[in-house]
Amino acid sequence: MKIFLDTANLESIRKYNDMGLLDGITTNPSLLSKEGGDPKKAMDEITRIIKGDVSLEVVSTEFQGMMDEGHKLRKYGDNVVVKCPMTADGLKACKSLTNEGIPVNVTLIFSSNQAVLAAKAGAKYVSPFIGRLDDIGHNGMNLIREIKDIFKNYSFKTQILVASVRHPLHVVEAAKIGADVVTLPPDVLGKMLKHPLTDIGLKNFLADWEKLKNTNQNISI
Ligand code: E4P
Repeated sequence: MKIFLDTANLESIRKYNDMGLLDGITTNPSLLSKEGGDPKKAMDEITRIIKGDVSLEVVSTEFQGMMDEGHKLRKYGDNVVVKCPMTADGLKACKSLTNEGIPVNVTLIFSSNQAVLAAKAGAKYVSPFIGRLDDIGHNGMNLIREIKDIFKNYSFKTQILVASVRHPLHVVEAAKIGADVVTLPPDVLGKMLKHPLTDIGLKNFLADWEKLKNTNQNISI
């Protein structure tokens, strides 16, 4: 399973990239807005730090605008994946950009039907938003399961990018289903790293080492 970071925060991107954990990045207008500053600078920096796919989203809602923005976004790097919304114009842009060799991530997917249509339009990724479905009392993970089954039936090449992830259990469930990618807010990735028994174990190891050192000052690794 590939791990993308769902953020435009450069500090988090550098932090987790330095650990070798990141296969890519997803951004959206809200995430760029949250960071403030010039989004161009942020997009430029992100595409330079990350070697894998970086999803940058269009903000136009009609076909030609999406195409123009898609071309502009692609100039940030060969690793840019253009994110188009799951609308009729978005699918048309998906098909045209894909035909030009520009990969597309179709975002704001909330049903299997939408995922099938995005795959038919040639999307490299579909992004089902599971947390937002959970929020309204639907089971987001069931959607991932259903899309996985359907894509398997027809050997669609489109990858399932699990989005709107809210906690580490979402990641485990997505991995069990065999989703291709999870895109994680930095705090979820941070939580995946941690286990209280790791902290206690390390504390005890270090305390025992101190005890040993107290018996002989010359002891070292
Ligand atoms: C996906 O690419 C989106 O950026 C993101 O996962 C949306 O998540 P949210 O529901 O937490 O805003």
